[in-house]
Amino acid sequence: MAQFENADGLKFTASSAESASQFSDFTSSYMGFRRNTGEIVKNLAEADPDMPMALCARGYLAKLFGSTNQSARAKVISGDLENLVRKVGANEREKQHAAALAAWCDGDLEKTTELWEGILLDDPMDGLALRLSHFTHFYSGDPRRMRDSIARILPLWSPNHRDYGFLLGMYAFGLEESGEYAKAEHYGREAVARNPADAWSVHSVAHVLEMTERMEEGIAWVNGLEQDWSTVNNFRFHLYWHRCLYHLERGEFDVVLELYDQQIVSDIKSDFYLDICNASSLLWRLEMFGVDIGDRWSKLVEVARKHVEDTDLIFVSLHYLMALVAAGDKDAADRMIANIQQWSTLNGTQAQICAESGLALAKGLKLAREGNYKEAARLMEPVRYTLDRIGGSRAQRDVFHMILLDVTKASQDILKARALFAERLAYKVHSSWSWKNYGEILHNLGRDEEAIEARSRAASLIVAG
Ligand SMILES: [Fe+2]
Repeated sequence: MAQFENADGLKFTASSAESASQFSDFTSSYMGFRRNTGEIVKNLAEADPDMPMALCARGYLAKLFGSTNQSARAKVISGDLENLVRKVGANEREKQHAAALAAWCDGDLEKTTELWEGILLDDPMDGLALRLSHFTHFYSGDPRRMRDSIARILPLWSPNHRDYGFLLGMYAFGLEESGEYAKAEHYGREAVARNPADAWSVHSVAHVLEMTERMEEGIAWVNGLEQDWSTVNNFRFHLYWHRCLYHLERGEFDVVLELYDQQIVSDIKSDFYLDICNASSLLWRLEMFGVDIGDRWSKLVEVARKHVEDTDLIFVSLHYLMALVAAGDKDAADRMIANIQQWSTLNGTQAQICAESGLALAKGLKLAREGNYKEAARLMEPVRYTLDRIGGSRAQRDVFHMILLDVTKASQDILKARALFAERLAYKVHSSWSWKNYGEILHNLGRDEEAIEARSRAASLIVAG
């Protein structure tokens, strides 16, 4: 097999220059969450079956599905790739990619990410390695690595490169998760000005607006660009989820339920991990806001039952578990917790995270749902400062912090509950949920004047009508 260069000077072992160029289309498509991403790779693998990177990309996409059955597929692909490399050869970068896929399949996310970061030192134009390391930094709960991974590459890319905007958006997200909101907003908006259909960059700005509590602006931002970002794959449902977060704190529950039914849960059967994360997290939040959600959990349980034995991403598993415990499927929930317990004893990055905090959160969710609030709080409180490692964004992980507050209050540990809500209000000044709960706690403590003030703050944040 010969070596062919794409427009960025990246070499590919392939049967034609056309294959190298099509691989660039795949990378752009993946960065843009475009719906044809899988199809491009499938076509490429069919047209050039001996191209190692085409096969590797298929393995990566399977892993990105975030579920154990797809991971099993990735493992087979990884074995096939090893054989293919032996048969046709591969350049150094491709060998590193093959090693990264193998490490990923073995559950060693640190080694996987290190391999991609190593590729980027030699070949900074490898957008695939860059986007994938963004993903694994994200699911290791390490925002500064996510930020710096892009920062060191950005100066080496031409602003005229067709994927440059994607880098800006990734950088914006890393900055946002690191708490650098103004800078994040600047880069995120610049990316969206280049390409309003760049859903990840729209999302980076949506996060800034969430964390800086600019709910009205957030709704306008997400709505205003809907025509563009709604063309992307299931990631679009996550943007509807973000819109719901703004509406929740404004008390616009009818809008949230409508978006949930029409969008967020509309393709739940496709079994894409982010869909369940959006759905479970939103239903649990709605219930904490006191909203009657009817039998909506039941639709999620059907999907969740298929993932009881997953050992891929603990962040995702916890969201499946939320559905199981909330719908009262005790048998499946118990099996899943036993699975997480076993997982926490294994080797691997996510296994360690299970041991650190994932298992405690899993048990806490079940206890919370059974009404054993005191015990739930006892398990969840010690991990509140370490649970970042489960990955996901700050906004996503917030549901676990909210649950801790909720169970602490419900357990009548009133002094602790006051303390936790006071902490939250120090950085969520415009949270109606927090003020409402704080008001109730103050009332129970006999601090009536402060309670009236807190309740009026809550009421002022609710949108009339
Ligand atoms: Fe998000």
